[in-house]
Amino acid sequence: MIQPEQQRRAYLEALGIDVWVPRDEPEPEVAAETADAAAAEPSAPPVRDGLDWAALRDAVSGCTQCVLHETRTQTVFGVGNENADWMIIGEAPGAEEDRRGEPFVGRAGKLLDEMLRAVGQGRDKVFIANILKCRPPNNRDPKPGESAQCRGYLERQIELVQPSVILAVGRIAAQLLLDTDTPVGRLRGKPHQLGSTPLVVTYHPAYLLRSPSQKRKSWQDLCLARRVAAEASP
Ligand code: URA
Repeated sequence: MIQPEQQRRAYLEALGIDVWVPRDEPEPEVAAETADAAAAEPSAPPVRDGLDWAALRDAVSGCTQCVLHETRTQTVFGVGNENADWMIIGEAPGAEEDRRGEPFVGRAGKLLDEMLRAVGQGRDKVFIANILKCRPPNNRDPKPGESAQCRGYLERQIELVQPSVILAVGRIAAQLLLDTDTPVGRLRGKPHQLGSTPLVVTYHPAYLLRSPSQKRKSWQDLCLARRVAAEASP
């Protein structure tokens, strides 16, 4: 069995990090981007209660609840093991995801895959979804009405998967799921609850590509998620 220290080193090496760099550097303030409060959708979010996977997929692929359906190439439902222990939730599809119909397939997605593999959770083992099922133009932040309209899809996905742990990646996913404006740097490092499901916050892989020194903290977050998942499903 791989020892935790060996695994940690393998992880850091895979991510191109010098293992001997001191780890206790102060955490940078993550710039809080201002959410666009405009464009709340007028209609109430539709209820997704009771839909099975096939009906939910159909509902998502035909969705016209917000303006994003006008600019998408296709919806990005989510992918992976429908009975996964780990559910990964990101923000929204980017250009590559919109083209391919699968979440986290660009550069950031490759890094996410490596991170997950390092804790024994390959892409085939987990379920990966986003807050939004459609790409916002120019990858802008989701508008409140858009995330509200899409929320029922995600909630039903969580109900169907019944994960032992949710890993929220990045500020948008973490803040929307936990209904807070606390920065990621203060949300990470401790378990939260989303209803009855434990939730761990970590940095978005796109941020880690820009700030590799934070990868070490993401490793700690994944180890925390692994502990939380083990406790939830002994
Ligand atoms: N970023 C996300 O948050 N989700 C994706 O699917 C791709 C990039």
